[in-house]
Amino acid sequence: MKTEFIKLTDIEDTDAETFLRAGKILREGGLVAFPTETVYGLGANALDPDAARKIYAAKGRPADNPLIVHVADPREAEAFAVTTPVYYALAQRFMPGPLTVILDKKPLVPDSVTGGLDTVAVRCPGHIAARRLIQAAGVPIAAPSANLSGSPSPTTAEHVLADLSGRVEMILDGGACAIGVESTVIRLTDEGCTLLRPGEVLPRELASVVKNVFVAPAVLDPDAAGDHPQSPGMKYRHYAPKTKLILVEGSRDAFVDFVNSRKDFCGVLAYTEDLKRFKQAKIMDLGGENDPAAQMHNLFRILREADHMQVPVIYAPLPPKTDEYLALYNRIIRAAGCEVIKGRS
Ligand code: TXA
Ligand code: MG
Repeated sequence: MKTEFIKLTDIEDTDAETFLRAGKILREGGLVAFPTETVYGLGANALDPDAARKIYAAKGRPADNPLIVHVADPREAEAFAVTTPVYYALAQRFMPGPLTVILDKKPLVPDSVTGGLDTVAVRCPGHIAARRLIQAAGVPIAAPSANLSGSPSPTTAEHVLADLSGRVEMILDGGACAIGVESTVIRLTDEGCTLLRPGEVLPRELASVVKNVFVAPAVLDPDAAGDHPQSPGMKYRHYAPKTKLILVEGSRDAFVDFVNSRKDFCGVLAYTEDLKRFKQAKIMDLGGENDPAAQMHNLFRILREADHMQVPVIYAPLPPKTDEYLALYNRIIRAAGCEVIKGRS
């Protein structure tokens, strides 16, 4: 199939026609990739079992890994999910925005969307283009990240094109995603909520709305996921660059010393402050040491670039396990296949 690549212009008239056409593709069972504030999504009609199946085929995604259902307004979840007062309290504070809430599902959602689970993930994206697309489609939109399964999530439309050209009807280009890592995913429980995937909405922010916020062990330790994790996505090796990535634990200075003590030419994800301190390495700017937003924004793009660097190995600093860095820690530890070594000092 030929993939249509369309730049959104901010000019209402031009884009209005684009959204009408994209909405029609979705309603008729096709696939449209679109920007969100987190990463690009690969959308299909969430109420059409065959359309959802096309997503799995296009991405090469395992069929038991369920999809997030996107709505233009949090109330639209009523049609297919069992909403609760806590859901609405969270929606009031964090939606539209980068939060996904897992609720019990209603029969309307096909098994091909939920991977056969009795729950469904709901998200109302903050990006206006995403909400306009959902409105134009007139149905909720199932959308995973628009990458081939196993490669880093796409943060630009060019990343989507590189992975999915010829596999989707249309790609809407809304520029680089503001956040750069996927939404925070939580499961509501009787006691409070469980964090299944960290993102820009932080545990302590959730705690201002929900009584108890538990962090699922697999967030920090992928091996803890086991064969039947709370979120199927936890068990898959994600975001892996083709080049070997090794994380180095220790201070900033220890990281610089460690890399400089390597004999071979290597790649390095460096904090902005240290860019000039490496002797023999291909250096990529991860963002300031104390700027988790910049690091989240850059990480997936850098992991994609890393594959073109032609170095045998890439080193990166191990992020702290604190709230602000939880999303980074969670993504990079998976990208590195949990390979962590200690820097000196
Ligand atoms: O920011 C985002 O969330 C992006 C954009 C496009 O909205 N979407 C995204 O989707 O990251 P995806 O499919 O790449 O990740 C969804 C995650 C997976 O780890 C999946 O296992 C989990 O959410 N998930 C979905 N439905 C679930 C359910 N019912 N129970 C547990 N986990 C679920
Ligand atoms: Mg994904």
